[in-house]
Amino acid sequence: EANPEVQTDIITLTRFILQEQNKVGASSAIPTGDFTLLLNSLQFAFKFIAHNIRRSTLVNLIGLSGTANSTGDDQKKLDVIGDEIFINAMKASGKVKLVVSEEQEDLIVFEGDGRYAVVCDPIDGSSNLDAGVSVGTIFGVYKLPEGSSGSIKDVLRPGKEMVAAGYTMYGASANLVLSTGNGCNGFTLDDPLGEFILTHPDLKLPDLRSIYSVNEGNSSLWSDNVKNYFKALKFPEDGSKPYSARYIGSMVADVHRTILYGGMFAYPADSKSKKGKLRLLYEGFPMAYIIEQAGGLAINDNGERILDLVPTEIHERSGVWLGSKGEIEKAKKYLLK
Ligand code: AHG
Ligand code: MN
Ligand code: MN
Ligand code: MN
Repeated sequence: EANPEVQTDIITLTRFILQEQNKVGASSAIPTGDFTLLLNSLQFAFKFIAHNIRRSTLVNLIGLSGTANSTGDDQKKLDVIGDEIFINAMKASGKVKLVVSEEQEDLIVFEGDGRYAVVCDPIDGSSNLDAGVSVGTIFGVYKLPEGSSGSIKDVLRPGKEMVAAGYTMYGASANLVLSTGNGCNGFTLDDPLGEFILTHPDLKLPDLRSIYSVNEGNSSLWSDNVKNYFKALKFPEDGSKPYSARYIGSMVADVHRTILYGGMFAYPADSKSKKGKLRLLYEGFPMAYIIEQAGGLAINDNGERILDLVPTEIHERSGVWLGSKGEIEKAKKYLLK
């Protein structure tokens, strides 16, 4: 009789991906070996970043690096370290040709014949880092089209063409949420083992949940439609209960809660940031991809599907509205008034 306490047949991330590859209809864009190797490099980057974040207070890694990035953000030391760790891991994989990073002004092109382009936000939520709030790494993977040798046009594509996307949130434990186009699955890093273990198979958002997540400090800058939508949640006219407000200020943490609990998250465009604050390629697309694979919706301020948008430059911004299907459909009605 097996000992019920001891798990003796755990599903590691590598085993999961190999299982996925053999599923009927798995996106053929990912040849088994290459993608598994790419994914192993991605998970090494997450483990190494997690290691540095856990030690950051001990080895004076918190605080500013004294530099700014091309989207005007002040860079934290960990932004820079996370960026270097990520880029080095992608280069070492031998499978990546292009990298876009929040912390790099220009597209990075590697030597060699890698067939993948990876976009990333190495440390999302870094303004909260020094306060110990959960931060994360967001990533998306495009396969280079046949015949392409690797240039900017291979990443200025709609998010729906990504072959994989996800994030790793460095909270109490490191939580990786990943999709390769066949649903959305959550893995937890077992530190001593050094393996991401499948802990949240087939994640699905509830259709409705009365939770809204937005920075209300921007309210005076919102359009009337946006103001009216949030007012309707807070002062319901049909006698229903007002919504709960939950805003962490790290997109990864706010999205992770939205996937697990349901509800909606928004960073609307406003009169100050006409294209919104969040960057489309490495924040909007991967989160929209994950949310849709978990049964939710993700749209911009015009009610357009985020994954259909085509960026014109690698740091392009967009308004982002995402979460439970019913909640986003409700928001869309207000946005299109
Ligand atoms: P990053 O730390 O990668 O620059 O991203 C920060 C983003 C995102 O994490 C979060 O949703 C948003 O900034 C919070 O912005 P506000 O502080 O303006 O609410
Ligand atoms: Mn930043
Ligand atoms: Mn970010
Ligand atoms: Mn960032």
